[in-house]
Amino acid sequence: MCGIIGITRGPGLDAGECEVLDVLVEGLARLEYRGYDSAGLALVGPGGDDPLWRVRAANGTRSLDDLTKRTEGAPADPSAGIGHTRWATHGRPNEENAHPHTDCHGHLALVHNGIIENHVELSDRLIADGHHLESETDTEVLAHLIESHLAAHPDEGLAGAVRAALAEVRGAFALAVVHDSEPDVIVAARRVSPLIMGVSDGAAFLASDIPAILGLTHDFFILDDDRVAELRPGVITVTTLEGEPVEPAPLHVDWDLDAARKDGYDDFMAKEMHEQPKAVADTLLDRLLPDGTLVLDEVHLTNEQFRGITKVFVVACGSSYHAGLMAKYAIEHWARLPVEIDISSEFRYRNPVVDEHTLVIGVSQSGETVDTFQAVREAKSLGAKVLIITNVVDSSMAREGDAVLYTRAGPEIGVASTKTHLAQITALEVLALYLAQVRETLSPAEARGLLDAMGSLPDKVAEAMTRGDAVHAVAERFRDSPSFIFLGRHVGYPVALEGALKLKEISYLRAEGFPAGELKHGPIALVEPGTVVVCVATRTPVWEKVIANVAEVKSRGASVVLVANDGDEETARHADEVLWVPATEHLFAPVIDVVPMQMFAHSMARLHGLDVDRPRNLAKTVTVE
Ligand code: F6R
Repeated sequence: MCGIIGITRGPGLDAGECEVLDVLVEGLARLEYRGYDSAGLALVGPGGDDPLWRVRAANGTRSLDDLTKRTEGAPADPSAGIGHTRWATHGRPNEENAHPHTDCHGHLALVHNGIIENHVELSDRLIADGHHLESETDTEVLAHLIESHLAAHPDEGLAGAVRAALAEVRGAFALAVVHDSEPDVIVAARRVSPLIMGVSDGAAFLASDIPAILGLTHDFFILDDDRVAELRPGVITVTTLEGEPVEPAPLHVDWDLDAARKDGYDDFMAKEMHEQPKAVADTLLDRLLPDGTLVLDEVHLTNEQFRGITKVFVVACGSSYHAGLMAKYAIEHWARLPVEIDISSEFRYRNPVVDEHTLVIGVSQSGETVDTFQAVREAKSLGAKVLIITNVVDSSMAREGDAVLYTRAGPEIGVASTKTHLAQITALEVLALYLAQVRETLSPAEARGLLDAMGSLPDKVAEAMTRGDAVHAVAERFRDSPSFIFLGRHVGYPVALEGALKLKEISYLRAEGFPAGELKHGPIALVEPGTVVVCVATRTPVWEKVIANVAEVKSRGASVVLVANDGDEETARHADEVLWVPATEHLFAPVIDVVPMQMFAHSMARLHGLDVDRPRNLAKTVTVE
């Protein structure tokens, strides 16, 4: 997830009214939530060292400051400019990999958000044709591809070259391109990654989201998938990839800036929950091949090394621990490897039995949690192979691991993890299937069926997200209950733990998660008339046992809320309230079943008037032991 921005303006405007550089820098600052590994911009216009001038900086959160200090040689009165703030996916977060990327001769500059899946085959071809590529990114091929099409058909202009280039591209993109031969034109295009545009008298703008350019206009257009736009001062024209003109959909926005940053949601947690289908889809992107195999590019352990693994250890904290617990079931079931899971702060001090045949998986959204960092360090010193699952490229843990599998959820601002949690479960399930593939523990037909089911997860998560009103009504019914018990069995157990954690951390209510079968060994003493029990009762092989456990609490007067699969009236008969979710293959169910748990906690906290994004006593990244 990166942020892009662009502006073109006519000579009619006073520089003071709409200064290109100021618009870009201010917009990039508002886009920094999308990533801040590096930043860069390109300006087109006369009066500088070059008609197309570029500056880039890779200094983390200080990158933007660095840019503004390095403007010597920039065009004095630029007519257009584009900018980028990066969340690294392909290539380290250094200056060479920062956007904008240019063509061979520095006439064209391009910024991109997304992933070009066939970048290797394209760059091989371009290099063979004599192009010189400088970065490790998937993006740079686009600049050279457009350059080659422009050289072949100069009469079709920059927009024609972009259309021709995109016809060859697989993957996701929102991009903006400038060329010094058309100094007041920006060509933009989109597939999957977001891109909005705006027009005012004598200027036109584009950005990854509305807040970046709010204040310059309140009238926007959303660029649809597979559309190419030409922005000129005061005018935007849009075509299909084939060049057919189309009318872009207008959007009038009267939010203030704070609301706009949250995309109109009341808080970041709500926004981030709604980004979950994309987080899951992006985490799967280019790892599932059409022929039914899995590829893990960033995992620098050989298949031979994977085959030598005899035991897996997962170490993590909080929600990441719950994601790890979910993975235990999948790895054991599909890859037939024994899995131990431990809370990071416990692992390190108990003299764990690991050796060079152990794979230790450290799971951490931030990649900085010191408990997990120390645990994987300890494992490494004991000779284990260490694989990190994290959302932050080049984080401390990513650097410590023998291999890294990135979740691609984009930055998470709400303290309670939501979209990164779903992305973690997804990444771990991908890893479990990969281990099964390497160890040949699943038949090709079984693996194909599972991969198909996995591919449908983003849509099912999106469907689960549509049930917010119904979940809110259930929260309203139980808003005055002082305590909650969360139950689940098998993969439903970590879902119950996560449901309880979400509720306690943002609504400050007493909430405990238990394995449903364990209740009768003690915790059932807590149940009395009016106790609210939330239980995961989706269809898994242990469904009947779960229903028996539900009967145990119901007969003691509990009010029962069941998470059940759509249309499962038999389960609904045992419930006072039902949180409905789409069904899936049972080992993937946590990805979907946890969604109503998050929404329930969110609704409850809001009903109690609490700040869900900044719960008391908590920090997003915990760097103390
Ligand atoms: C709960 C939550 C925390 C984190 C935990 C680990 O909503 O966010 O429990 O999961 O602090 O953090 P990371 O994943 O950054 O290691």
